[in-house]
Amino acid sequence: MEIIVSANEARKSSPIPPPDMKGAHVAGMEAYRSLVAEAEADYSGYWSRLARQFVSWKSDFTVGLDDSQAPFFKWFADGMLNVSYNCLDRQVERGLGGKTALVFEADDGQVTRIDYRELLARTCRLANALKARGVSKGDRVVIYMSMSIEGIVAMQACARIGATHSVVFGGFSAQSLRDRIQDAGAVMVVTADEQLRGGKRLPLKAIVDEAIALGGCETVRDVLVYRRTGSDIAWDASRDRWLHEETDGQPQNCEPEWVGAEHPLFILYTSGSTGKPKGVQHSSGGYLLHAALTTQWTFDLRPDDVFWSTADIGWITGHTYIAYGPLALGATQVVFEGVPTYPDAGRFWKMIQDHRVTVFYTAPTAIRSLIKASEGNEQVHPQRYDLASLRILGTVGEPINPAAWEWFHRHVGGGRCPIVDTFWQTETGGHMITPLPGATPLVPGSCTLPFPGIAAAVVDETGAELPDGQGGILVVRKPWPSMIRTIWGDPERFRSSYYPPELGGSYLAGDGAIRDPATGYFTITGRIDDVLNVSGHRMGTMEIESALVSCTDLVAEAAVVGRPDETTGEAICAFVVLKRARPSGDEARQIANELRNWVAKEIGPIAKPKDIRFGDNLPKTRSGKIMRRLLRSVARGEGIAQDTSTLENPAILEQLAQSN
Ligand code: WTA
Repeated sequence: MEIIVSANEARKSSPIPPPDMKGAHVAGMEAYRSLVAEAEADYSGYWSRLARQFVSWKSDFTVGLDDSQAPFFKWFADGMLNVSYNCLDRQVERGLGGKTALVFEADDGQVTRIDYRELLARTCRLANALKARGVSKGDRVVIYMSMSIEGIVAMQACARIGATHSVVFGGFSAQSLRDRIQDAGAVMVVTADEQLRGGKRLPLKAIVDEAIALGGCETVRDVLVYRRTGSDIAWDASRDRWLHEETDGQPQNCEPEWVGAEHPLFILYTSGSTGKPKGVQHSSGGYLLHAALTTQWTFDLRPDDVFWSTADIGWITGHTYIAYGPLALGATQVVFEGVPTYPDAGRFWKMIQDHRVTVFYTAPTAIRSLIKASEGNEQVHPQRYDLASLRILGTVGEPINPAAWEWFHRHVGGGRCPIVDTFWQTETGGHMITPLPGATPLVPGSCTLPFPGIAAAVVDETGAELPDGQGGILVVRKPWPSMIRTIWGDPERFRSSYYPPELGGSYLAGDGAIRDPATGYFTITGRIDDVLNVSGHRMGTMEIESALVSCTDLVAEAAVVGRPDETTGEAICAFVVLKRARPSGDEARQIANELRNWVAKEIGPIAKPKDIRFGDNLPKTRSGKIMRRLLRSVARGEGIAQDTSTLENPAILEQLAQSN
């Protein structure tokens, strides 16, 4: 493990006090501290109290935390519940049937509203259709769809019948989709004919066909297709079914399948240190608790709020803070199909204005790109829009640099809205370190303090706690309800990735962190493993390397590292040795483009390297290990001031440095 303290440190200034928020769910630091103290005094009891408050149980649990098989922790294990019941039926029973659940805005601006009663009815019809096709409790269903009401309905319908869904982001390639279908052993794929983004039609069903044609997906019996654009698509009558034909005529009620709290609600694949993505498995009860609890406390969500998370359901944020958390609280939320820059870079601001959004949650990369766009065009500056409805802002996925924070605070939040910089991961299920808007004084660039009950700490390689002010490894000392349960099909990898023995039973997040000596606030300093964060998307360097070397006609060897990028946070930089002489000039540019397209085809466009440099060789130690530390310096354009005495072939660095 290597600890890199990035340049993105928190601004050194006095914290901005929280606004006076009457009736906030966590009102003031006193209230925060008393929750922290409650968790410390009776850890299992604290979470059990909240689990009874936030989740409706079919039958109550008797044990909160069960750590008898650590690190395979269980929470509320003998309790029975249904997640879809908690998100939908419960709202109707509370009299919220006519309340708007989703305000869907399509790419072309068309708006569809759907209330809780209708969302429940549609979920039940699809759940019945899934059952009619033989999908049952414990089966896996892959959902490969863009942002849509149907995508959310598909997730809820799986939850309703106890099927475990695995949503695959619509930007992933056929190869990546195939790998995920195969690893999950899915019996069904739910998809759409096409997706619409930024005025363009992009294929989905055709990619499913391609994925299945690659082989290894024999478990898939049916492909359900939502008709989004109506374009002509290839059809295999033995397996393809229109979603509307399957659901038409299905009854609009469907008894929920009551499952144990530990029943796997979903698997979501994410990148790790090896070439193979990990299927992060989440539970039902503990996950739902934290989804609902953090949605309420971190965003201080009230009944009349209009919540908007700009994430995609293909990522964890779209699970916890679109498909589950807000629905479990009976909230009204905006769901957006398109992209922030279409038809122009004022789209987000216009949507906030049109839908009177009160809580807005987005990614630092989006903010940075919209800052850039508004610098070139006054028309799309947030000041041109009426954003007075906003109450709270949030960011997720990557560190937010203080300059972007200030801009967001001033121009979008009008200087009055607290920004919650939420640190968490696919594996953590929900927020881990975050300000609470009515309690925590803010420091731009810092995710501030642990959510009450989360035992975050900064340690060294031996697991010993470090003094504040010293950068180290971020760990979580105690298990929490929404944590990853295992890696699907690979419990050993779960144990070795997250619970390495030297850390003595703490969860290893994979990030570095530092705490401020004066405030105890955390600042995340970036990944300490071979994972990059590009525009808030996690990418494994080894995944990209394997994609490059699988281009066997061209590539002999490849190494991938990250370098800082103003807009995307990090950029992917690949060092490539070809099977032919090192190219230069136009030829180098042309081959680099070929390789970028190759990677897009293998993984997806988000994995395309920004820089590709060619060398006769790669810098290696005498024992043949690639020296990534040096490659990182070359990628950043830094001088090679580091010790190169262990390097087998020092001249190669000069060559790589000049090959840009
Ligand atoms: C990074 C996204 C700094 C971090 C929810 C983490 C952050 C990885 C923040 C998880 C933040 C996420 N500040 N870094 N507020 N939020 N990260 O699994 O490196 O897609 O480990 O989950 O994103 O990415 P993932």
